[in-house]
Amino acid sequence: MAIQNNAPVRNARIAAVGAYRPPRVVPNSELVERIDSSDEWIQQRTGIQTRHWAAADESVADMAVKASVTAIARAGLVASDIDTVIFATITYPYQTPSAATEVAQRLGINGVAAFDLSAACAGFSYGVGLANDMIRSGSANNVLVIGAEKISDFIDLDDRATSFIFADGAGAVVITPSAEIGIGPTVMGSDVENREAISMVPSWIDYKPGSNLTDLAWPVIHQEGQKVFRWAVYEVAKVGKQIIENSGLTPADIAAFIPHQANERIIDSLAKSMELPETVMIARDIRTTGNTSAASIPLAMDALLAEHPELHGKNALLIGFGAGLVYAGQVVELPPQPK
Ligand SMILES: CC(C)(COP(=O)(O)OP(=O)(O)OC[C@H]1O[C@@H](n2cnc3c(N)ncnc32)[C@H](O)[C@@H]1OP(=O)(O)O)[C@@H](O)C(=O)NCCC(=O)NCCS
Repeated sequence: MAIQNNAPVRNARIAAVGAYRPPRVVPNSELVERIDSSDEWIQQRTGIQTRHWAAADESVADMAVKASVTAIARAGLVASDIDTVIFATITYPYQTPSAATEVAQRLGINGVAAFDLSAACAGFSYGVGLANDMIRSGSANNVLVIGAEKISDFIDLDDRATSFIFADGAGAVVITPSAEIGIGPTVMGSDVENREAISMVPSWIDYKPGSNLTDLAWPVIHQEGQKVFRWAVYEVAKVGKQIIENSGLTPADIAAFIPHQANERIIDSLAKSMELPETVMIARDIRTTGNTSAASIPLAMDALLAEHPELHGKNALLIGFGAGLVYAGQVVELPPQPK
């Protein structure tokens, strides 16, 4: 007997987005002394003016729950309507059980599918692609996709290459079945030849009692800034063009560009290489949010929609890229204005 799947193939869309930024704003001036830098240099090289860092007693899951509650309410749903939780993060401080199960527990939705996704700054776009495919194939109905990070716990404040870049926050979207195609084909891939360009070391095993390593430092994020910059500018632009083409669109059909917020110069370079028309609204949330890895796209989406409500329901190009090196992106119809 042939395997059957009676679920109808259907479409999906982002029904709503929610965001949470921890209250503490950290200006460049607070970081520059330890790395012999300046507010001017950081703004010029990255676009970052300020970022948010969570309080010591505020966890990555705390932030994720807040963003999720907003997204679910804006979608006109209640938590019990969610049947799948996908949590993209690299900073949940437990190997197991997952951050997704903590969120499900705190939302009171026992029984749902729940798992974490480790694709660093591309994690949110991987999650959106996965949620879309799960809904289309009948494996899920209403999917909560979260990107949340508390990277401030894993930053070396004396590292000139990273201390001023990374930040904390949470974003979430609810993805639901829809009549029309609200999420285009996801392009996802990697360049594992550059696997060491961004990393968090040492490993857990290095801390095992009996390990030969002595004088172990707390694991922090490291990166080869120039290598990552060049890769993002050249390789990710090609990915962006592929995403638009795979969706049967041209740059003129895109209303908003919401890339991972890594560096404002990378964002500008990508927009130029992809020949996005000047009418395209470009998310520049990095200026006041910094690089929040998996959280950056939903945070930037929320901020852009707040600033430009006319973008609700319009096409946006999302592209995430980061440690691995990995990338993923898709064209989505931005969620409708919440009722
Ligand atoms: C990190 C980054 C801002 C550094 O900028 P850069 O222009 O590549 O810096 P370089 O390391 O080439 O150094 C250039 C100069 O700035 C200086 N410099 C480096 N870091 C500095 C800092 N934090 N403050 C002030 N000066 C700094 C260097 O000493 C060097 O000076 P010199 O020309 O007198 O020798 C940049 O490489 C970057 O943004 N890369 C991408 C990172 C990223 O997006 N990561 C996340 C991906 S998900």
